[in-house]
Amino acid sequence: MADLRTRYLGLELRSPLVASASPLTGSLDWLRRLEAAGAGAVVLPSLFEEDLAEETRQVEALLASGATTAEARAGHPDQVGYGAGPAAYLSLVQRAKQGLSIPVIASLNGASRGGWVRYAARLEEAGADALELNIYYVSSRPGRSGSEVEWHYLDVVRAVRQAIGIPLAVKLSPYFSSLANLAGQLGEAGANGLILFNRFYQPDLDIETLEVTPRLELSSSVELRLPLRWIAILHRRFGVSLAASTGVHTATDVAKVLLAGADVAMMTSALLRHGPDHLRPLEVQLRDWMDRHGYQTLGQFRGRASQRSVPDPATFERANYIKTLASHPAPSR
Ligand SMILES: Cc1cc2nc3c(=O)[nH]c(=O)nc-3n(C[C@H](O)[C@H](O)[C@H](O)COP(=O)(O)O)c2cc1C
Repeated sequence: MADLRTRYLGLELRSPLVASASPLTGSLDWLRRLEAAGAGAVVLPSLFEEDLAEETRQVEALLASGATTAEARAGHPDQVGYGAGPAAYLSLVQRAKQGLSIPVIASLNGASRGGWVRYAARLEEAGADALELNIYYVSSRPGRSGSEVEWHYLDVVRAVRQAIGIPLAVKLSPYFSSLANLAGQLGEAGANGLILFNRFYQPDLDIETLEVTPRLELSSSVELRLPLRWIAILHRRFGVSLAASTGVHTATDVAKVLLAGADVAMMTSALLRHGPDHLRPLEVQLRDWMDRHGYQTLGQFRGRASQRSVPDPATFERANYIKTLASHPAPSR
């Protein structure tokens, strides 16, 4: 039977199928189901900079009103979710570590170098095997240059790197003018891996009420192309692990990102849509594909379609653009 073991961030994973951060990884029950269905690792939902700032603010306000530190901290409920707060999060990390045998990756989501960065050390103490840092920052200031924004990212990564000893992965957006350059700099700043990519939810407009409405739509396999291209370009360039995220739904998608050079294939939308058991047929189909091609291990084919390995590396760059446009049939009338 084909061997699916892989290394990601220096960790040994039994499978490259990883559950990325979502509400599905926010409770021990779901985490156990993901493990039972074959996940190689799980990424917990993010602990947000805003949660940490809010907790500090509330505790300080209570302390100022005369409460003791223990009283001030006692008001935080033990539940995990978006906005549930750090106490519940640390407890989930601990319980996940005790309850699972696969690696547990904690996630921090923020945009500035602030006190919240110190929480990285608390997540390590709680037992996280690695930390994923999701830097979500929309720069809308015309006076701020692209290189300033990148400097800011590197600054946060350096600060978190200094705070922890466990492996650190950075989840990036695709919106950079020179992603390959930034990827190398993130590696130098201490990132052991990159997750390509975070998926942004763009606000929509209601034309009757003029309200800006948040909309969350799950991805489809079509969106795999962007991570696929960048994984192919970055494979073996900077010695960092690569995780594909956005648009991985089927065993074909998993095979594609591995061929491009990913170490793991992360999934959220597919698992939210079909449940954790979606991993079972995926694993069977991946093994079948490997058997049909005579591959016994992932190492035998990982990166075989990366930019370095394909006969025409320009297909990952501009050259493909004209060919792609020309491939559309001309309108008949
Ligand atoms: C409901 C929902 C919640 C999510 N929460 C987080 C989160 O807390 N932290 C994070 O880094 N990404 C989060 N994501 C992004 C996913 O981890 C993933 O990167 C994204 O959905 C793209 O992958 P997909 O195409 O497999 O869905 C969330 C996505 C969804 C749909």
